[in-house]
Amino acid sequence: MILKKYHRNYISLSLLFRQRRRHREFGKIFREQFGPRQNVVIADPDLMAEVLRKEGKYPSRPPYESWVLYNQLRRKDGGLMTSEREYWKKSRGVLATKLRPRAVADYVPIMNEVCSDFLARIEMLKVPAQGGPAKDSNPHTDSNSENPDEEASSHMDAPHTVPRMLNELNKFSMETILYVMLNTRVGCLEAKLSEQVDSFVRSIARMFLTGHQLMVYANIHKLLSTRPWREHVQSMDKIYEFASHHVNQCIDEVTRELESTTCSTGEEPVSFLKYVVGTNQLSRDQIVDNVIETFMAGIDTTANALAFLFYLLSKNESVQERLVTEVDNVVGGRTPSSEDLQRMPFLKACVKETLRLFPPIPINARSTTEDCSLGGYHIPKDTILMLNLYVMSRDEKVFPNPDEFHPERWLREGRDENEPLPHPFSLLPFGSGVRSCVGRRVAEIQMYLATIQVLQRYTLKKSDVFDIKPFVRTQLTPGPELPVMFLER
Ligand code: HEM
Repeated sequence: MILKKYHRNYISLSLLFRQRRRHREFGKIFREQFGPRQNVVIADPDLMAEVLRKEGKYPSRPPYESWVLYNQLRRKDGGLMTSEREYWKKSRGVLATKLRPRAVADYVPIMNEVCSDFLARIEMLKVPAQGGPAKDSNPHTDSNSENPDEEASSHMDAPHTVPRMLNELNKFSMETILYVMLNTRVGCLEAKLSEQVDSFVRSIARMFLTGHQLMVYANIHKLLSTRPWREHVQSMDKIYEFASHHVNQCIDEVTRELESTTCSTGEEPVSFLKYVVGTNQLSRDQIVDNVIETFMAGIDTTANALAFLFYLLSKNESVQERLVTEVDNVVGGRTPSSEDLQRMPFLKACVKETLRLFPPIPINARSTTEDCSLGGYHIPKDTILMLNLYVMSRDEKVFPNPDEFHPERWLREGRDENEPLPHPFSLLPFGSGVRSCVGRRVAEIQMYLATIQVLQRYTLKKSDVFDIKPFVRTQLTPGPELPVMFLER
């Protein structure tokens, strides 16, 4: 019974709105029962700053328990998402170097290549103008149809939309992140997926779904060997089998290269994996675990963010027009470069504004590692602090007209002198500080490049056939179908 209460496929946004009401009732900080735990909830920029500025050497974030339990079951050290203290710090030092802004600029050409393939898929899958099935809706040519994440939908016939867009965006993210980390194309965007890739893509979807079902009382699910737990383990096993095969193959390659290179000219940028292996800081298994956890952390997050961005642009014609003007002026019809991105403040503002309205991780968290005070209250060690980003973003005291899509609020130029810039801790979709999102630059650049390439070719227009009803499935998502029409410019 108890497990059933918490074993849900999704949580509606009403949970977040309930917290909004509680903040109105109790103020900036309050206690809340969540499953078996008492948590402290905050949604205020000053309190966020208080928490994140005074973090110690090893900030602790409650990890996805299902991932930790899986690692214990398979005797894995795990990666950045699940590890703590010294091992986390060491892994972070090794992985972060090649994910910093300057290093990520080197990946722009390969990320552009994946974007172009994503555009080809949009073109292939788009529903024709007169409606009806998409050009390529044969279930045998694509993993979508059996994606456990999704239900058959009548929305699939909406003209000019791409059926199961979120699944397409997930595959786009997978391909991008694996290309960045392994310098290898895995084939998630092929017209016809190989059997292995297809099974991998399905396992990722199943892992996220069951992971959400295990969000509370995962240990009891494991103890009772419930269906969500068994399916979670099965999907994780498949993901590790496929991904570790690729990672190990790449480690072998770069190890051979490292052994044969007598002296480097220093001109060629060193690839992510070559750098990681070359540091000799992590064992082979630890590299595999870290690559896989980093990869898994980046898929859904970026896919959901891009889905919301396309949706918001499709609904806000004037914003889209201004963005298209920036794209045309800075990039024109060329392939975008990292230098172009430096000259596109409005694009960056659109991405920020999307992440404000729809933070893919609507609630971040910290475990206190010692007794501390917060907002004048005593907080004991081992308390979970819930950092409610969604509620903070929608607070009219933090952002005027909080429910409006208004990217201009992020621009320095052209703002009213009396209008203050937003509080530096009011927008934290990637967290902040030493434990913040290590993939932030990859995610941002992927979003910039995809948006530029899409707008070079299409005008986005909201379809009247249906609308989104965002919900939380571990992450904030618009759902599998996106009512966005891709109209040839
Ligand atoms: C829009 C896309 C993304 C969003 C909104 C996002 C958000 C976040 C957030 C909120 C955290 C927790 C930070 C904290 O505790 O303060 C996080 C951690 C993390 N993210 Fe992301 N993320 C995104 C994309 C990515 C990508 C593309 C990757 C991989 C390339 C990635 C890899 C990670 C990893 C490994 C961590 C754990 C870092 C650590 O604990 O040291 N994320 N992300």
